[in-house]
Amino acid sequence: MIPHASDRSQIDPRRLALAGCDRELYQLIAATGYVPDDQNFSDFCESLKSGRAWLISGTRGSGKTAFPEALASACNLTMCVVAGRDGLKQEEILYDWDREEQDVWMRENLVIAKALPATEQSAFLESARRKKWQREFLILGEVGLAYDLAVKAAQATPRQPPPVLLLDESDKFGATIEDSLLMPLERGLIYIPRYEGGCIGVTEWAYRPIVITTSNDLRHKLSGPFISRHIYSRFANPTLEKELEILSAREPTASSAQLALAIKLLDAVRGIAGMEDHPSIRESIDVAGAFVRNSVESLDYGSISRFFCYFVKTGEARELLSLQLDYLLAMTSAFHPIIDAWLADRDEIWANRWPQLVGINE
Ligand SMILES: Nc1ncnc2c1ncn2[C@@H]1O[C@H](COP(=O)(O)OP(=O)(O)O)[C@@H](O)[C@H]1O
Ligand SMILES: [Mg+2]
Repeated sequence: MIPHASDRSQIDPRRLALAGCDRELYQLIAATGYVPDDQNFSDFCESLKSGRAWLISGTRGSGKTAFPEALASACNLTMCVVAGRDGLKQEEILYDWDREEQDVWMRENLVIAKALPATEQSAFLESARRKKWQREFLILGEVGLAYDLAVKAAQATPRQPPPVLLLDESDKFGATIEDSLLMPLERGLIYIPRYEGGCIGVTEWAYRPIVITTSNDLRHKLSGPFISRHIYSRFANPTLEKELEILSAREPTASSAQLALAIKLLDAVRGIAGMEDHPSIRESIDVAGAFVRNSVESLDYGSISRFFCYFVKTGEARELLSLQLDYLLAMTSAFHPIIDAWLADRDEIWANRWPQLVGINE
């Protein structure tokens, strides 16, 4: 669990969405440097308002994990995180009993019982055995914790915002974990056999944790029942304009030349036939960052391949790109109607650099 900062106030994103203040929420998230896609953001607001979990699928590096992180940071929310991996156990994420403490408890009570009159012993021990399943001995996993925190937040005066629960890379969970999440996702409750309270959680949709589930669609296919408990969005590759917006948010000190260079290079690489693993947003941010760090304003034969390490992930891809240096260099210096128009809108010097823009702007 990553707790919220107790010295800063919290904002309830669900209340904002329910009050129709979607743009305000968008701005709060954007202020962290994360630029949500409009359609995806609208889906997220629907998930907030309905109380349903939000499932995001998409390729690696498309901003799935970064979204809930940006939300938690923008609204100062506590975040519980389950990172998908093989062999994840139900008791790790929902709850477990502290068996050692329970044993100690029973031993202590046996000693006390022995000192009691024989007629009182059995009733005393029966009560002690029941109390073995009290809250004190319950160890909550991240999912259990999120639902428990949601209850506490709902009961607080004034009411506090619920926590964010990130179920990351859920395609690695496997069927057992997916099944164990069906009940909390549908009913808002985690039933705990023998527990004195019976269950943990909150049934009212408005008070439930803000659950965001991600999937890379790689390891396992998610089950129908698991998917159906979510509002679904697909994080596709952003448009060039959106990618420019993201790059300039993530690298605010990058010059127009550096932004143009990074995005033209990556756009050209994505267009090369035979490149299997397409560079994502993660890679374009890394390349722009490298240009800023190295004060690179233009590329030539000597320098271009120095930056391949940021987005070329196999030997074959590197060889393929090495044969395309002329093409890549030409693309990084050529005029691009979308990229250069976007930059020219924000940078007059850039606008004056391209006579081609005169026709476009008119
Ligand atoms: N829309 C976006 N706005 C700002 N940064 C983004 C955006 N999408 C992705 N990123 C950045 O790209 C990188 C990869 O994102 P991440 O969420 O880890 O990808 P995923 O979880 O989909 O594999 C992170 O540094 C993230 O901040
Ligand atoms: Mg991720």
